Amino acid sequence: ANNYYSENYRPQFHFTPEEKWMNDPNGMFYYEGEYHLFYQYYPDSTVWGPMHWGHAVSTDLIHWKHLPVALAPDENGYIFSGSAVVDWENTSGLGEDGLPPLIAIFTYHNPVLEKEGKIDFQTQGIAYSNDKGRTWTKYGEPVLKNPGIRDFRDPKVMWYEESKEWIMTLAVKDHIEFYSSPNLIDWQKEGDFGIDLGAHGGVWECPDLFEMELEGSDEKQWVLLVSINPGGPNGGSATQYFVGDFDGNTFTTEQSDTKWLDYGRDNYAGVTWSDIPKEDGRRLFIGWMSNWSYATVVPTEKWRSANTIPRELVLEIYNDEYILASNPVDELKEIRGEKIELSEQVVSSSVELEMPKIELMCSEMKLNFNLKPDSGDNAPEEFGIVLKNDKGEYFKIGYYHTENKFYTDRSEGGICSFSDNFAGLHTADYKAGETMNIHLFVDKASVEVFVDGGKLVFTDIVFPKESYDKIELFSTNGSVKLFESEVWSLKSVW
Ligand code: FRU
Repeated sequence: ANNYYSENYRPQFHFTPEEKWMNDPNGMFYYEGEYHLFYQYYPDSTVWGPMHWGHAVSTDLIHWKHLPVALAPDENGYIFSGSAVVDWENTSGLGEDGLPPLIAIFTYHNPVLEKEGKIDFQTQGIAYSNDKGRTWTKYGEPVLKNPGIRDFRDPKVMWYEESKEWIMTLAVKDHIEFYSSPNLIDWQKEGDFGIDLGAHGGVWECPDLFEMELEGSDEKQWVLLVSINPGGPNGGSATQYFVGDFDGNTFTTEQSDTKWLDYGRDNYAGVTWSDIPKEDGRRLFIGWMSNWSYATVVPTEKWRSANTIPRELVLEIYNDEYILASNPVDELKEIRGEKIELSEQVVSSSVELEMPKIELMCSEMKLNFNLKPDSGDNAPEEFGIVLKNDKGEYFKIGYYHTENKFYTDRSEGGICSFSDNFAGLHTADYKAGETMNIHLFVDKASVEVFVDGGKLVFTDIVFPKESYDKIELFSTNGSVKLFESEVWSLKSVW
């Protein structure tokens, strides 16, 4: 283990930069046995500034190797968020020696034009690599100019097999625009989507578009992710999604309500990996585990921000509607250490769980509750889990059974004073069945909660003054039964 990962609040199994500021994950793709991860990075400070693309690679999505900065600002501007693809057929002509070039497509944000009061300061640029992503050469002039709109960014590019061309999904202020290209260099506008659909409490950012098979069938649907800041369901930044159809020109949907990928406050600007081999077939996602409401002031000193754990997105039908479930990737099982199983028990007020040898703030838990215990007792009005320490700080995860609401509460979780926007209760409407599965990942400064196979997700960061070292189950006016549980200490990946 590296000693720089022993700092206070340093995540042990989440990706963080060694030092300085990070925001959105960018340009993720898989090539030749390596998962690439880039990220919005400012190497000179722990707050946002002139954006670079930081870079790391992994062979298992869990253990990361830091690489030098891949892209730095130039005369066209800062390097904002975007994507990267393997140009298998060398459509761009930028490949060498018969190998496919790797192409990054990103937003140039020109601070000079912005200062001059111009509105067309965001354009799209590309860069290529012919050495497995170790070095990147900028193409030069932007490949997609700005049509005269302030927010014009975050290109996510995919190969569209049907018309054999590239499709760029772009966030344009309050809607999405689609562009097509035969070669990743010449782009042509196709359709628009979303001006009158979904949440509009803030600017649209970091979209992603992909086709998915409905779990357990061969039915196919298209999914569009759109991050929005502010305007999330529990305040600040969050990611909404749409399920519908893409015809090469535009996206359409019959969905009328707004759907959220995560109800916690700390999963933003997430997108999925490109070029995952067909034999694997998973749709792999990672998000930035913070929120623009307070990201620049969280109490870490050497670096700021982590990513979520990598997740597999799964399209399911739930209550007659399409939903996009998120689950921790299987690779996380590699870091499971000491394991315990708790005995079956009925919880009718509160009970502390004995978990010798488990380091709570680096752990995974799978707890199965029965909401209709067989004792003839009432179902509880509320039940849940409390992680706490001797300083009186606690993080609460619970379900208001009578109101059909799931929640996480970090208002007494630890240090909150750095921002008025940080403390708080986060809720989501959710109708439980007879049982509920709560799958938790707890790291030094975060809690990720996956309910009932990821149908509902809460990702929250938290900064207790001392590690939580006790866990309690509670239930009010009725009881629940914990009928199956597995708990693991997790090993640091650094
Ligand atoms: C989202 C975002 C993107 C932009 C980047 C700048 O968090 O605002 O829209 O490209 O961050 O760092």
